[in-house]
Amino acid sequence: MSKTPMARLDRLLANLGYGSRREIADLVRHRQVVLDGEVLKDPGAKVPVTADLPQRMTVVDRPVDPPAPLTLVMHKPLDVVCSHKEPGRSVYELLPRRWRARMPGLSTIGRLDKDTTGLLLITDDGAFLHRVISPRSHVAKRYRATLDRPLEGWEAETFAGGRLVLDGDTDPLAPAILEPIGPQEAYLTITEGRYHQVRRMFAAVGNHVVALHRDRIGGLALPEDLAPGAWRPVTASEQAAILA
Ligand code: URA
Repeated sequence: MSKTPMARLDRLLANLGYGSRREIADLVRHRQVVLDGEVLKDPGAKVPVTADLPQRMTVVDRPVDPPAPLTLVMHKPLDVVCSHKEPGRSVYELLPRRWRARMPGLSTIGRLDKDTTGLLLITDDGAFLHRVISPRSHVAKRYRATLDRPLEGWEAETFAGGRLVLDGDTDPLAPAILEPIGPQEAYLTITEGRYHQVRRMFAAVGNHVVALHRDRIGGLALPEDLAPGAWRPVTASEQAAILA
């Protein structure tokens, strides 16, 4: 049986963004940290760091935040950016403010443009992030594109051929699957994550994307219960489905 990972209480809560070790010592002194129904009295106490910690520990009467490793699924809304550096409201601002101080920090797994909606993964698990974005993993990402002009019928063959070179690129794209769902609407499934890839692919065949929504990564579909802007931790089976 594997041993339960343990951490010092003050270090764990500091890494979850609850404040400095001194501020956490104050919380403990004010009897604000409870584990399994018992008030913790020592900020240096060793506590279990397991996924069920939020069901076992409270901080100021609220379940403690989930410890690392943490992966979230979000329904990215329009008009938010995926990078801390870009101007504008970011997806990180949709999460609790305290989470900006988490260590390790949270990053999006790949990016969606400001005007793309849909399934976005956010994680503090670097190894998982790299497995999902590595071209060697061939994780499929499916987008629903609404187009400015009707499809002509030959585009699927061009995308599937593995010979299309986008403007500004030197390497051809990996084969991609186009499935029309209406004259000006189609699913496009790609396994790479190049800059503005889907918009540039349609531009390369003389069309223009007017709306773009990602609805699937690997075997994980955007959960129907997530409204735009909503998010939650992935379940273990959802996390496995991403790489399945
Ligand atoms: N391709 C794009 O062009 N934009 C996205 O947001 C994602 C994929």
